[in-house]
Amino acid sequence: MSASRGQFGSKFGFIMAAAGSAVGLGNIWRFPYVVGQNGGGAFVFVYVLCVILIGLPLIYNEVALGRLTGRNTIGAFKGTGANKFWMITGAVLALCVSFFVLSYYGVIAGWTIGYIVSEFTDFIKNFETFRSAPVYVIPFFGVFMIATIAIVLGGVAGGIEKASKILMPVLFLLVFLVMLRSLTLDGAMEGVKYYLTPDFSKINGSVILSALGQAFFSLSVGWGILITYGSYLPKDQNIVSSGAWIGFMDTAVALLAGLMIFPAVFSFGKNPAEGTALVFQVLPDIFNSMPTGGRIVGASFFLLLCVAALTSSISMIEVPASYLIDEKKWSRKKSAWTVGILAFLVGIPSALSGGASEMFTTMSINLFGVIKTGFLDIMDALFGGLFIVIVALMTCVYTGWIMDINKVAAEIGTGAPGFQKPLIGNLSPLVLWKFFIRFVCPLVIGLVLLSTIGII
Ligand code: PHE
Repeated sequence: MSASRGQFGSKFGFIMAAAGSAVGLGNIWRFPYVVGQNGGGAFVFVYVLCVILIGLPLIYNEVALGRLTGRNTIGAFKGTGANKFWMITGAVLALCVSFFVLSYYGVIAGWTIGYIVSEFTDFIKNFETFRSAPVYVIPFFGVFMIATIAIVLGGVAGGIEKASKILMPVLFLLVFLVMLRSLTLDGAMEGVKYYLTPDFSKINGSVILSALGQAFFSLSVGWGILITYGSYLPKDQNIVSSGAWIGFMDTAVALLAGLMIFPAVFSFGKNPAEGTALVFQVLPDIFNSMPTGGRIVGASFFLLLCVAALTSSISMIEVPASYLIDEKKWSRKKSAWTVGILAFLVGIPSALSGGASEMFTTMSINLFGVIKTGFLDIMDALFGGLFIVIVALMTCVYTGWIMDINKVAAEIGTGAPGFQKPLIGNLSPLVLWKFFIRFVCPLVIGLVLLSTIGII
Protein backbone atom coordinates (compact mmCIF):
# COMPACT_ATOMS: atom_id res chain seq x y z
CA MET A 1 0.00 0.00 0.00
CA SER A 2 1.52 3.31 -0.96
CA ALA A 3 2.19 5.74 1.84
CA SER A 4 0.06 8.47 0.28
CA ARG A 5 -3.13 6.40 0.55
CA GLY A 6 -5.37 6.96 3.52
CA GLN A 7 -5.68 4.46 6.38
CA PHE A 8 -8.10 3.89 9.17
CA GLY A 9 -6.72 4.75 12.57
CA SER A 10 -8.31 1.95 14.61
CA LYS A 11 -10.47 -1.14 14.42
CA PHE A 12 -13.35 0.74 16.04
CA GLY A 13 -12.96 3.49 13.46
CA PHE A 14 -13.05 1.02 10.58
CA ILE A 15 -16.08 -0.80 11.96
CA MET A 16 -17.88 2.49 12.52
CA ALA A 17 -17.03 3.77 9.04
CA ALA A 18 -18.06 0.50 7.39
CA ALA A 19 -21.17 0.29 9.57
CA GLY A 20 -21.76 3.96 8.80
CA SER A 21 -21.72 3.05 5.15
CA ALA A 22 -23.98 0.08 5.74
CA VAL A 23 -26.50 1.71 8.06
CA GLY A 24 -28.40 4.32 6.13
CA LEU A 25 -31.59 4.95 4.25
CA GLY A 26 -31.37 1.30 3.24
CA ASN A 27 -32.25 0.27 6.78
CA ILE A 28 -34.76 2.89 7.73
CA TRP A 29 -36.38 3.93 4.47
CA ARG A 30 -35.85 0.98 2.14
CA PHE A 31 -36.12 -2.07 4.40
CA PRO A 32 -39.63 -1.31 5.75
CA TYR A 33 -41.04 -0.45 2.34
CA VAL A 34 -39.59 -3.59 0.72
CA VAL A 35 -40.93 -5.70 3.61
CA GLY A 36 -44.33 -4.11 3.01
CA GLN A 37 -44.26 -4.84 -0.69
CA ASN A 38 -43.23 -8.43 -0.15
CA GLY A 39 -45.85 -9.49 2.34
CA GLY A 40 -44.29 -8.94 5.78
CA GLY A 41 -42.95 -11.66 8.08
CA ALA A 42 -41.96 -14.21 5.46
CA PHE A 43 -39.74 -11.64 3.78
CA VAL A 44 -38.07 -10.76 7.07
CA PHE A 45 -37.24 -14.43 7.59
CA VAL A 46 -35.73 -14.82 4.10
CA TYR A 47 -33.87 -11.55 4.55
CA VAL A 48 -32.09 -12.66 7.71
CA LEU A 49 -31.08 -15.92 6.04
CA CYS A 50 -29.69 -13.97 3.06
CA VAL A 51 -27.62 -11.78 5.36
CA ILE A 52 -26.06 -14.67 7.24
CA LEU A 53 -25.57 -17.20 4.46
CA ILE A 54 -24.80 -14.98 1.48
CA GLY A 55 -24.08 -11.48 2.77
CA LEU A 56 -21.48 -12.33 5.40
CA PRO A 57 -19.21 -14.50 3.22
CA LEU A 58 -19.32 -11.74 0.62
CA ILE A 59 -18.40 -9.06 3.18
CA TYR A 60 -15.27 -11.05 4.04
CA ASN A 61 -14.51 -11.53 0.40
CA GLU A 62 -14.74 -7.85 -0.48
CA VAL A 63 -12.83 -6.50 2.51
CA ALA A 64 -10.04 -9.05 1.97
CA LEU A 65 -9.84 -8.33 -1.75
CA GLY A 66 -9.39 -4.66 -0.94
CA ARG A 67 -6.76 -5.18 1.72
CA LEU A 68 -4.90 -7.79 -0.30
CA THR A 69 -4.48 -5.46 -3.26
CA GLY A 70 -4.46 -2.14 -1.40
CA ARG A 71 -6.35 -0.70 -4.34
CA ASN A 72 -9.73 0.73 -5.28
CA THR A 73 -12.37 -1.47 -6.91
CA ILE A 74 -11.06 -1.23 -10.46
CA GLY A 75 -7.47 -1.55 -9.25
CA ALA A 76 -8.32 -4.60 -7.13
CA PHE A 77 -9.68 -6.48 -10.13
CA LYS A 78 -6.87 -5.33 -12.38
CA GLY A 79 -4.22 -6.15 -9.79
CA THR A 80 -5.43 -9.72 -9.49
CA GLY A 81 -5.29 -10.37 -13.21
CA ALA A 82 -8.93 -9.83 -14.26
CA ASN A 83 -9.55 -9.74 -17.99
CA LYS A 84 -11.92 -7.33 -19.74
CA PHE A 85 -15.03 -9.41 -19.03
CA TRP A 86 -14.46 -9.50 -15.25
CA MET A 87 -13.40 -5.90 -15.20
CA ILE A 88 -16.69 -4.85 -16.75
CA THR A 89 -19.09 -7.18 -14.96
CA GLY A 90 -17.37 -6.95 -11.58
CA ALA A 91 -15.61 -3.65 -11.20
CA VAL A 92 -17.06 -1.21 -13.74
CA LEU A 93 -20.62 -2.28 -13.00
CA ALA A 94 -19.96 -1.84 -9.27
CA LEU A 95 -18.75 1.67 -9.93
CA CYS A 96 -21.85 2.43 -11.99
CA VAL A 97 -24.10 1.04 -9.26
CA SER A 98 -22.50 3.30 -6.63
CA PHE A 99 -22.80 6.32 -8.87
CA PHE A 100 -26.38 5.82 -10.02
CA VAL A 101 -27.68 4.87 -6.60
CA LEU A 102 -26.01 7.97 -5.19
CA SER A 103 -27.98 10.04 -7.70
CA TYR A 104 -31.36 9.13 -6.21
CA TYR A 105 -30.14 8.38 -2.69
CA GLY A 106 -29.32 12.09 -2.42
CA VAL A 107 -32.89 12.96 -3.40
CA ILE A 108 -34.34 10.89 -0.57
CA ALA A 109 -31.77 12.23 1.87
CA GLY A 110 -32.86 15.70 0.71
CA TRP A 111 -36.42 14.87 1.82
CA THR A 112 -35.08 14.15 5.31
CA ILE A 113 -33.61 17.67 5.40
CA GLY A 114 -37.03 19.02 4.45
CA TYR A 115 -38.56 17.15 7.36
CA ILE A 116 -35.99 18.48 9.82
CA VAL A 117 -36.94 22.01 8.80
CA SER A 118 -40.62 21.16 8.89
CA GLU A 119 -40.51 19.94 12.49
CA PHE A 120 -39.88 23.60 13.34
CA THR A 121 -41.90 25.38 10.67
CA ASP A 122 -44.67 22.94 9.68
CA PHE A 123 -44.16 23.81 6.05
CA ILE A 124 -44.80 20.23 4.93
CA LYS A 125 -48.53 19.64 5.02
CA ASN A 126 -48.37 16.25 3.40
CA PHE A 127 -45.68 14.19 1.80
CA GLU A 128 -47.15 14.11 -1.71
CA THR A 129 -47.39 17.90 -2.06
CA PHE A 130 -43.91 18.28 -0.63
CA ARG A 131 -42.19 15.90 -2.96
CA SER A 132 -43.95 17.22 -6.02
CA ALA A 133 -42.58 20.74 -5.44
CA PRO A 134 -39.24 21.24 -7.24
CA VAL A 135 -38.58 24.45 -5.28
CA TYR A 136 -38.20 22.30 -2.20
CA VAL A 137 -36.79 19.00 -3.35
CA ILE A 138 -34.05 20.27 -5.67
CA PRO A 139 -32.39 22.69 -3.20
CA PHE A 140 -32.56 20.15 -0.35
CA PHE A 141 -31.01 17.56 -2.66
CA GLY A 142 -28.28 20.06 -3.57
CA VAL A 143 -27.52 20.85 0.07
CA PHE A 144 -27.16 17.17 0.84
CA MET A 145 -24.77 16.58 -2.06
CA ILE A 146 -22.59 19.51 -1.02
CA ALA A 147 -22.43 18.16 2.54
CA THR A 148 -21.38 14.78 1.15
CA ILE A 149 -18.63 16.29 -0.97
CA ALA A 150 -17.38 18.39 1.95
CA ILE A 151 -16.85 15.31 4.14
CA VAL A 152 -15.18 13.32 1.37
CA LEU A 153 -12.76 16.22 0.91
CA GLY A 154 -11.67 15.66 4.52
CA GLY A 155 -10.16 12.28 3.56
CA VAL A 156 -10.31 8.92 5.25
CA ALA A 157 -9.34 9.20 8.90
CA GLY A 158 -10.20 12.87 9.32
CA GLY A 159 -13.54 13.04 7.56
CA ILE A 160 -15.13 9.64 7.18
CA GLU A 161 -13.88 7.92 10.32
CA LYS A 162 -14.37 10.83 12.69
CA ALA A 163 -17.94 11.54 11.61
CA SER A 164 -19.01 7.90 11.82
CA LYS A 165 -17.59 7.21 15.27
CA ILE A 166 -19.80 9.77 16.93
CA LEU A 167 -22.93 9.60 14.87
CA MET A 168 -23.59 5.88 14.59
CA PRO A 169 -24.17 5.19 18.30
CA VAL A 170 -26.52 8.18 18.61
CA LEU A 171 -28.61 6.95 15.69
CA PHE A 172 -29.02 3.59 17.33
CA LEU A 173 -30.40 5.18 20.48
CA LEU A 174 -32.91 7.34 18.65
CA VAL A 175 -34.25 4.46 16.58
CA PHE A 176 -34.79 2.62 19.82
CA LEU A 177 -36.68 5.51 21.34
CA VAL A 178 -39.01 5.94 18.37
CA MET A 179 -39.60 2.20 18.32
CA LEU A 180 -40.79 2.30 21.93
CA ARG A 181 -43.30 5.02 21.08
CA SER A 182 -44.55 3.15 18.06
CA LEU A 183 -44.97 -0.09 20.01
CA THR A 184 -47.12 1.63 22.60
CA LEU A 185 -49.62 3.05 20.09
CA ASP A 186 -53.18 1.68 19.98
CA GLY A 187 -53.40 -1.33 17.71
CA ALA A 188 -49.62 -1.63 17.52
CA MET A 189 -49.73 -5.41 17.94
CA GLU A 190 -51.41 -5.87 14.54
CA GLY A 191 -48.29 -4.39 12.99
CA VAL A 192 -45.97 -6.55 15.06
CA LYS A 193 -47.90 -9.62 13.96
CA TYR A 194 -47.71 -8.62 10.31
CA TYR A 195 -44.01 -7.96 10.64
CA LEU A 196 -42.94 -11.01 12.60
CA THR A 197 -45.32 -13.84 11.67
CA PRO A 198 -44.03 -15.49 8.52
CA ASP A 199 -46.58 -16.75 6.03
CA PHE A 200 -44.35 -19.10 4.07
CA SER A 201 -46.80 -19.41 1.18
CA LYS A 202 -45.80 -15.86 0.24
CA ILE A 203 -42.21 -16.83 -0.59
CA ASN A 204 -41.42 -17.01 -4.31
CA GLY A 205 -38.53 -16.16 -6.65
CA SER A 206 -39.25 -12.46 -6.71
CA VAL A 207 -39.50 -12.27 -2.90
CA ILE A 208 -36.10 -13.95 -2.58
CA LEU A 209 -34.58 -11.66 -5.20
CA SER A 210 -35.90 -8.64 -3.31
CA ALA A 211 -34.47 -10.03 -0.08
CA LEU A 212 -31.07 -10.65 -1.66
CA GLY A 213 -31.08 -7.23 -3.31
CA GLN A 214 -32.08 -5.60 -0.03
CA ALA A 215 -29.37 -7.49 1.87
CA PHE A 216 -26.68 -6.34 -0.56
CA PHE A 217 -28.04 -2.81 -0.61
CA SER A 218 -28.12 -2.60 3.13
CA LEU A 219 -24.82 -4.31 3.90
CA SER A 220 -23.10 -2.23 1.20
CA VAL A 221 -22.02 -5.46 -0.48
CA GLY A 222 -21.53 -5.68 -4.23
CA TRP A 223 -20.68 -2.03 -4.77
CA GLY A 224 -16.94 -2.05 -4.42
CA ILE A 225 -17.35 -0.02 -1.25
CA LEU A 226 -15.98 -2.70 1.03
CA ILE A 227 -13.11 -3.30 -1.38
CA THR A 228 -12.28 0.39 -1.13
CA TYR A 229 -12.63 0.55 2.67
CA GLY A 230 -10.74 -2.74 2.99
CA SER A 231 -7.85 -1.16 1.14
CA TYR A 232 -7.59 1.41 3.94
CA LEU A 233 -7.51 -1.29 6.62
CA PRO A 234 -4.21 -2.07 8.36
CA LYS A 235 -3.00 -5.69 8.13
CA ASP A 236 -3.21 -6.46 11.84
CA GLN A 237 -6.95 -5.82 12.00
CA ASN A 238 -9.32 -8.75 12.29
CA ILE A 239 -11.54 -8.96 9.20
CA VAL A 240 -13.66 -11.80 10.56
CA SER A 241 -14.83 -10.08 13.71
CA SER A 242 -15.10 -6.64 12.10
CA GLY A 243 -17.22 -8.09 9.29
CA ALA A 244 -19.48 -9.88 11.74
CA TRP A 245 -19.98 -6.65 13.70
CA ILE A 246 -20.84 -4.74 10.56
CA GLY A 247 -23.39 -7.35 9.49
CA PHE A 248 -24.87 -7.55 12.97
CA MET A 249 -25.26 -3.82 13.48
CA ASP A 250 -26.72 -3.27 10.07
CA THR A 251 -29.28 -6.03 10.50
CA ALA A 252 -30.14 -4.91 14.01
CA VAL A 253 -30.93 -1.38 12.84
CA ALA A 254 -33.05 -2.68 9.95
CA LEU A 255 -35.02 -5.03 12.20
CA LEU A 256 -35.57 -2.26 14.76
CA ALA A 257 -36.67 0.09 11.96
CA GLY A 258 -39.35 -2.43 11.03
CA LEU A 259 -40.53 -2.50 14.64
CA MET A 260 -40.62 1.26 14.52
CA ILE A 261 -42.65 1.54 11.32
CA PHE A 262 -45.12 -1.37 11.16
CA PRO A 263 -46.89 -0.89 14.49
CA ALA A 264 -47.50 2.72 13.44
CA VAL A 265 -48.57 1.73 9.90
CA PHE A 266 -51.33 -0.43 11.36
CA SER A 267 -52.21 1.93 14.17
CA PHE A 268 -52.71 4.82 11.72
CA GLY A 269 -54.44 2.66 9.11
CA LYS A 270 -51.83 3.10 6.36
CA ASN A 271 -51.12 0.64 3.57
CA PRO A 272 -47.92 -1.37 4.25
CA ALA A 273 -47.42 -1.98 0.51
CA GLU A 274 -47.37 1.77 -0.20
CA GLY A 275 -43.81 1.73 -1.60
CA THR A 276 -41.06 4.34 -1.46
CA ALA A 277 -43.28 6.91 0.30
CA LEU A 278 -44.12 4.62 3.25
CA VAL A 279 -41.70 5.84 5.89
CA PHE A 280 -42.17 9.50 5.10
CA GLN A 281 -45.92 9.20 5.48
CA VAL A 282 -45.78 7.27 8.72
CA LEU A 283 -42.97 8.81 10.76
CA PRO A 284 -44.44 12.32 11.09
CA ASP A 285 -47.63 10.73 12.45
CA ILE A 286 -45.64 8.94 15.14
CA PHE A 287 -44.00 12.18 16.22
CA ASN A 288 -47.30 14.05 16.22
CA SER A 289 -48.81 11.37 18.42
CA MET A 290 -46.24 11.88 21.15
CA PRO A 291 -47.80 13.54 24.17
CA THR A 292 -44.80 15.81 24.66
CA GLY A 293 -41.55 16.46 22.92
CA GLY A 294 -42.71 15.08 19.56
CA ARG A 295 -41.13 17.91 17.65
CA ILE A 296 -37.77 17.56 19.32
CA VAL A 297 -37.74 13.79 18.86
CA GLY A 298 -38.95 14.24 15.26
CA ALA A 299 -36.33 16.83 14.41
CA SER A 300 -33.53 14.81 16.01
CA PHE A 301 -34.72 11.68 14.30
CA PHE A 302 -34.73 13.21 10.82
CA LEU A 303 -31.41 14.84 11.57
CA LEU A 304 -29.92 11.50 12.47
CA LEU A 305 -31.51 9.82 9.45
CA CYS A 306 -29.94 12.48 7.31
CA VAL A 307 -26.59 11.88 8.98
CA ALA A 308 -26.94 8.11 8.50
CA ALA A 309 -27.56 8.85 4.84
CA LEU A 310 -24.45 11.04 4.81
CA THR A 311 -22.17 8.35 6.20
CA SER A 312 -23.51 6.14 3.39
CA SER A 313 -23.38 8.67 0.58
CA ILE A 314 -19.79 9.60 1.37
CA SER A 315 -18.88 5.97 0.83
CA MET A 316 -20.73 5.95 -2.48
CA ILE A 317 -18.71 8.92 -3.73
CA GLU A 318 -15.57 7.32 -2.35
CA VAL A 319 -15.84 4.35 -4.77
CA PRO A 320 -15.60 6.29 -8.06
CA ALA A 321 -13.47 9.02 -6.43
CA SER A 322 -10.83 6.59 -5.15
CA TYR A 323 -10.63 5.18 -8.67
CA LEU A 324 -9.97 8.63 -10.11
CA ILE A 325 -7.44 9.39 -7.35
CA ASP A 326 -5.49 6.11 -7.65
CA GLU A 327 -5.67 5.32 -11.33
CA LYS A 328 -6.12 8.70 -13.00
CA LYS A 329 -3.99 10.62 -10.52
CA TRP A 330 -6.66 13.25 -9.98
CA SER A 331 -6.60 15.20 -6.74
CA ARG A 332 -9.10 14.21 -4.02
CA LYS A 333 -10.71 17.61 -4.43
CA LYS A 334 -11.25 17.39 -8.17
CA SER A 335 -12.50 13.79 -7.93
CA ALA A 336 -15.01 14.44 -5.17
CA TRP A 337 -16.45 17.54 -6.81
CA THR A 338 -16.70 15.92 -10.23
CA VAL A 339 -18.44 12.78 -9.01
CA GLY A 340 -20.71 14.77 -6.67
CA ILE A 341 -21.83 17.30 -9.26
CA LEU A 342 -22.41 14.66 -11.93
CA ALA A 343 -24.48 12.58 -9.51
CA PHE A 344 -26.54 15.67 -8.70
CA LEU A 345 -27.27 16.29 -12.38
CA VAL A 346 -28.16 12.67 -13.03
CA GLY A 347 -30.37 12.76 -9.92
CA ILE A 348 -32.58 15.59 -11.15
CA PRO A 349 -35.06 13.32 -13.00
CA SER A 350 -35.42 11.31 -9.77
CA ALA A 351 -36.06 14.50 -7.84
CA LEU A 352 -38.74 15.46 -10.35
CA SER A 353 -40.39 12.06 -10.35
CA GLY A 354 -42.52 12.73 -7.26
CA GLY A 355 -45.10 14.69 -9.24
CA ALA A 356 -43.15 17.70 -10.53
CA SER A 357 -42.64 16.26 -14.00
CA GLU A 358 -45.47 14.31 -15.55
CA MET A 359 -43.09 12.32 -17.70
CA PHE A 360 -40.69 11.23 -14.95
CA THR A 361 -43.53 10.56 -12.53
CA THR A 362 -45.64 8.32 -14.71
CA MET A 363 -43.02 6.45 -16.73
CA SER A 364 -43.00 2.78 -15.90
CA ILE A 365 -41.22 -0.44 -16.72
CA ASN A 366 -42.16 -4.04 -16.34
CA LEU A 367 -39.28 -5.71 -14.51
CA PHE A 368 -39.91 -9.43 -14.88
CA GLY A 369 -43.59 -9.11 -14.17
CA VAL A 370 -43.37 -6.42 -11.47
CA ILE A 371 -44.40 -2.93 -12.61
CA LYS A 372 -42.23 -0.08 -11.37
CA THR A 373 -43.53 3.44 -11.85
CA GLY A 374 -41.64 6.72 -11.62
CA PHE A 375 -38.00 7.44 -12.44
CA LEU A 376 -36.77 7.12 -8.85
CA ASP A 377 -38.50 3.80 -8.25
CA ILE A 378 -37.20 2.47 -11.57
CA MET A 379 -33.62 3.49 -10.69
CA ASP A 380 -34.02 1.87 -7.27
CA ALA A 381 -35.29 -1.39 -8.74
CA LEU A 382 -32.57 -1.54 -11.41
CA PHE A 383 -29.46 -0.20 -9.71
CA GLY A 384 -30.47 -0.66 -6.07
CA GLY A 385 -31.78 -4.19 -6.72
CA LEU A 386 -31.06 -6.11 -9.89
CA PHE A 387 -27.58 -4.82 -10.79
CA ILE A 388 -26.16 -5.16 -7.28
CA VAL A 389 -27.22 -8.79 -7.28
CA ILE A 390 -25.45 -9.29 -10.61
CA VAL A 391 -22.25 -7.60 -9.38
CA ALA A 392 -22.31 -9.69 -6.21
CA LEU A 393 -22.64 -12.84 -8.30
CA MET A 394 -19.76 -11.82 -10.54
CA THR A 395 -17.55 -10.96 -7.59
CA CYS A 396 -17.95 -14.34 -5.92
CA VAL A 397 -17.48 -16.25 -9.17
CA TYR A 398 -14.39 -14.15 -9.80
CA THR A 399 -12.79 -14.83 -6.41
CA GLY A 400 -14.01 -18.41 -6.25
CA TRP A 401 -13.07 -19.61 -9.70
CA ILE A 402 -11.00 -17.11 -11.64
CA MET A 403 -8.41 -15.73 -9.27
CA ASP A 404 -6.59 -17.72 -6.60
CA ILE A 405 -9.15 -18.04 -3.79
CA ASN A 406 -6.43 -19.18 -1.38
CA LYS A 407 -4.85 -15.74 -1.49
CA VAL A 408 -8.09 -14.11 -0.41
CA ALA A 409 -8.62 -16.79 2.25
CA ALA A 410 -5.12 -16.18 3.59
CA GLU A 411 -5.81 -12.45 3.68
CA ILE A 412 -8.93 -13.01 5.78
CA GLY A 413 -6.85 -15.16 8.11
CA THR A 414 -4.20 -12.44 8.52
CA GLY A 415 -5.08 -10.78 11.80
CA ALA A 416 -7.80 -13.38 12.49
CA PRO A 417 -6.01 -16.34 14.08
CA GLY A 418 -9.14 -18.44 14.60
CA PHE A 419 -10.00 -18.50 10.91
CA GLN A 420 -7.73 -21.43 10.01
CA LYS A 421 -8.35 -23.44 13.17
CA PRO A 422 -10.59 -26.50 12.67
CA LEU A 423 -13.96 -26.46 14.42
CA ILE A 424 -14.91 -30.12 13.95
CA GLY A 425 -12.69 -32.66 12.18
CA ASN A 426 -10.76 -30.58 9.68
CA LEU A 427 -13.63 -28.22 9.02
CA SER A 428 -12.36 -24.72 9.73
CA PRO A 429 -14.13 -21.41 9.09
CA LEU A 430 -11.71 -21.03 6.19
CA VAL A 431 -12.86 -24.24 4.51
CA LEU A 432 -16.47 -23.29 5.13
CA TRP A 433 -15.98 -19.81 3.71
CA LYS A 434 -14.36 -21.19 0.54
CA PHE A 435 -17.26 -23.59 0.08
CA PHE A 436 -19.76 -20.75 0.39
CA ILE A 437 -17.95 -18.44 -2.02
CA ARG A 438 -17.37 -21.16 -4.64
CA PHE A 439 -20.68 -23.03 -4.44
CA VAL A 440 -23.41 -21.76 -2.16
CA CYS A 441 -23.35 -18.05 -3.00
CA PRO A 442 -23.09 -18.31 -6.80
CA LEU A 443 -25.63 -21.10 -6.92
CA VAL A 444 -28.22 -19.36 -4.79
CA ILE A 445 -27.78 -15.97 -6.44
CA GLY A 446 -27.68 -17.51 -9.92
CA LEU A 447 -30.81 -19.59 -9.38
CA VAL A 448 -32.73 -16.67 -7.93
CA LEU A 449 -31.77 -14.48 -10.88
CA LEU A 450 -32.74 -17.13 -13.41
CA SER A 451 -36.05 -17.80 -11.72
CA THR A 452 -36.94 -14.11 -11.56
CA ILE A 453 -36.07 -13.59 -15.19
CA GLY A 454 -38.41 -16.49 -15.86
CA ILE A 455 -35.87 -18.92 -17.30
CA ILE A 456 -36.47 -21.59 -14.66
N1 PHE B 1 -25.90 0.48 2.77
C1 PHE B 1 -26.36 1.82 2.57
C2 PHE B 1 -27.76 1.94 3.10
O1 PHE B 1 -28.29 0.98 3.57
C3 PHE B 1 -26.33 2.19 1.15
C4 PHE B 1 -24.98 2.08 0.56
C5 PHE B 1 -24.65 1.06 -0.25
C6 PHE B 1 -24.02 2.99 0.84
C7 PHE B 1 -23.39 0.95 -0.79
C8 PHE B 1 -22.78 2.90 0.30
C9 PHE B 1 -22.46 1.88 -0.52
O2 PHE B 1 -28.35 2.98 3.06
